[in-house]
Amino acid sequence: MLSRMKGSKILITGASSGIGKAVAFELARRGVKLTLASRRLDSLRDVVEEIQSAFPEAPQPLIARCDVTRRKDVKRMVEECVRRFGGIDVLINNAGTGVYGNAEFTAIEDFRAVMEVNFFGAVRCMMEALPFLKQAEKGLVINITSVAAKHGVPYLGAYGASKAALAVFSQSFRSELKESGVSLMIVYPSYTQTDFFRNEKKVGGARRPRGPYASPQKVARAIVRAAESGKRNLVLSLEGKALTFSQGVFPRLVERAMDRIAYKLREKQEVFNE
Ligand SMILES: NC(=O)c1ccc[n+]([C@@H]2O[C@H](COP(=O)([O-])OP(=O)(O)OC[C@H]3O[C@@H](n4cnc5c(N)ncnc54)[C@H](OP(=O)(O)O)[C@@H]3O)[C@@H](O)[C@H]2O)c1
Repeated sequence: MLSRMKGSKILITGASSGIGKAVAFELARRGVKLTLASRRLDSLRDVVEEIQSAFPEAPQPLIARCDVTRRKDVKRMVEECVRRFGGIDVLINNAGTGVYGNAEFTAIEDFRAVMEVNFFGAVRCMMEALPFLKQAEKGLVINITSVAAKHGVPYLGAYGASKAALAVFSQSFRSELKESGVSLMIVYPSYTQTDFFRNEKKVGGARRPRGPYASPQKVARAIVRAAESGKRNLVLSLEGKALTFSQGVFPRLVERAMDRIAYKLREKQEVFNE
């Protein structure tokens, strides 16, 4: 779909690092008119510099300082994008944050904080951009959720809940948008090597088990290819696909596997009871 839209106008949230930055590169390669948004303007400027030296022919990306939890920021980001490029064809809701650790000791404020960014932030961006997506020839929303939205994973409950909320909302909204010409793709990434794990809140000093990780570049290529082919759902990694399949067919097996993961993490003292 995107390949037929060379020169299309694409807005990416959370474009200052990781998956969002890698998607920006993948799209710049295709000559897309990019708006890159996040809270850190200096990092966004660095991304633009890197893009321009890698793809001097690509249109100059617009950068927008935007905290997706603030309505004013989101409104201004959308306005700036429309003023510069004359519309929005694709919105990529990628901005995200995490909380990891024992749910029993997770403050309600930390549950709220991930919801604010991962769910309400994405909904806010969708609603502000929607009038312009409807005016586009073929508007598209790409929502980056997580494999943790497919089935609850121990010690990732608050994060998984925020991503599951976004995934389920996206399924509902996709049907509501059917006649509007706007389509919606849901992406479920697995472990990806980014700053995410450094930035997430670790409850009580919990330690994350290591990878295996995919590279953000590999994830970005898969996302852009899936968008180009008009895919509606993209589950990344073999583990993600196995989880998606088995939780429907062998739910007890998946529950036992999750119990085992929780037991091992406690045994290795990677999560703490405070
Ligand atoms: N890495 C993984 O293993 C993994 C797995 C599954 C799903 N995901 C999802 O993939 C997406 C990208 O994550 P990543 O792995 O690339 O992590 P990352 O490198 O930490 O990137 C997160 C991005 O979100 C932005 N962001 C965070 N809070 C924001 C806010 N309130 N308003 C606006 N922007 C905000 C950050 O930019 P600023 O700090 O500049 O605002 C940054 O650009 C997230 O939605 C994440 O949940 C990641």
